[in-house]
Amino acid sequence: MIKNDLFLRTLNGEKIERPPVWFMRQAGRYLPDYMVLKEKYSFFERVQNPDLAREITVMPIDQVGVDAAILFSDILVIAQSLGLKVVMVPGKGPVLQTATTEAEVAALNVENTEEFFHYAAPAIKAVKEGLDNRVPLIGFAGSPWTLLCYMVQGQGSRDFGEAKRFILNESDRAKVMLEKITEATIRYLQIQIDAGCDAVQIFDSWGGMLSPAMYDEFSLPYMKRITKAVKDRVPVILFAKGAWYALDKLHAAGASALGLSWTTSPDYARKVCGADVILQGNLDPTTLLALPDVVAKATKKMIDSFGGRNHIVNLGHGVLPTTSVDSAKAFVEAAKAYRY
Ligand code: CP3
Repeated sequence: MIKNDLFLRTLNGEKIERPPVWFMRQAGRYLPDYMVLKEKYSFFERVQNPDLAREITVMPIDQVGVDAAILFSDILVIAQSLGLKVVMVPGKGPVLQTATTEAEVAALNVENTEEFFHYAAPAIKAVKEGLDNRVPLIGFAGSPWTLLCYMVQGQGSRDFGEAKRFILNESDRAKVMLEKITEATIRYLQIQIDAGCDAVQIFDSWGGMLSPAMYDEFSLPYMKRITKAVKDRVPVILFAKGAWYALDKLHAAGASALGLSWTTSPDYARKVCGADVILQGNLDPTTLLALPDVVAKATKKMIDSFGGRNHIVNLGHGVLPTTSVDSAKAFVEAAKAYRY
C-alpha cells in the first residue's frame, strides 16, 4: 500500500482534501545534488545504473516534497532501442543518429526492445525500494510524433521543419516509422508497468507544432494505440503540449487525465471534454523564476482556476534548469497548503 496516494486517488476520480503535486522534469536539472552526479557519470549511466536511477528519482521526493516520483530516464531511449545512437552533449542537449532513408527506416528494429531495456526492470525495482511506498512512481514515454521529430532532425529544433518536411514528402515512410516507434513504446511501457510503475505519462511535447489536421494524421492515431494498449493496467496521462485542439480526442482515447500547457485554460478543457475530466497542469514554468512568495501566490491562483476538483498540480511544461530550489519548493508547498 502506498502511504501518500493522493495522486492515484485523483486519477481515480475520488474526492480528496487537496490536489496532489509533482512536476515535469522534477528529477535532475535544477537540483544541486544532481549536478554533482552529472559531473561524475554520463547521462545513460545515470539512467541505467539502478543505484543512480534510484538516487536521482527519489531526490525530488526528499528535497522538494512532491506527491509522486517520475522515473529518471529520457524519451529518447526508444530511439536507442530501435538502433540509433544518442549522445547527450553537455550544454547542447541530445544529438542523435538519424533515420530518414528507406533503408534506415527499415533497419529500425522493434524486436530489439526487450533486450535493449534489460536495465529497466532492475532500475525500476531499485527506485521502488528507494521510495519505500511513500509515493507512487510514474513511468513515461515520448509520443511517436515527438520521437520522430528527434529521429529525423537529429537534435532539438525551433520549428522541427525537417521533421515536417519528412512527413509531408514521405508520408508513407513516416507512417512506417511511427508504427515502429509505437510498437517499441508499447513494449517498453509494459516493461515499466511489469516492474512496478503505478501510472504512465506520454509526453507529446511537440504535438502542438502540428495543425489540427496534421495532428489527426501523424500523432493522434499512435497516441490512441499506446493508450489502448496499457490503460487497463495503469492510469494513463496524455500531455500533448499546446495541442488544445486535440484534447477532446485524447480524452476519448481513454486517457485517465490530460496535461494542459499554460496557454490552455481548464474551463476550455472542461467545456470540450466534459465537466468531470481530470486535468494536470498548468503553471507557466517561467513563473518559477520569480521569488518564492510570488510563486506561492501564482500557484494558488492557478489551482483556483481548476475549480477545486479533479486536478493534479503541475507546470505547463518541464521545470527550467535555471529554477531555484526555493521557488520549486514554494510551488510544491502552495499546493500542499491548499484545501478544497
Ligand atoms: O523528471 C525528470 O527529469 C525525469 C526524467 C526526464 C528527462 N527527460 C531527463 C533529462 C524526462 C521525463 C524527460 C523527458 C523528455 N526528454 C522530453 C519530454 C518532456 C519535455 O520537456 O518536453 C523531451 C522533449 C526530452 C528530450 C531531451 N532530453 C532534451 C530536449 C534534452 C536536453 C535539454 C534538457 O536539459 O532537458 C534532454 C536531456 C535530458 N533529459 C536532461 C535530463 C535531466 C539534461 C541532461 C543532463 O542532465 O545530463
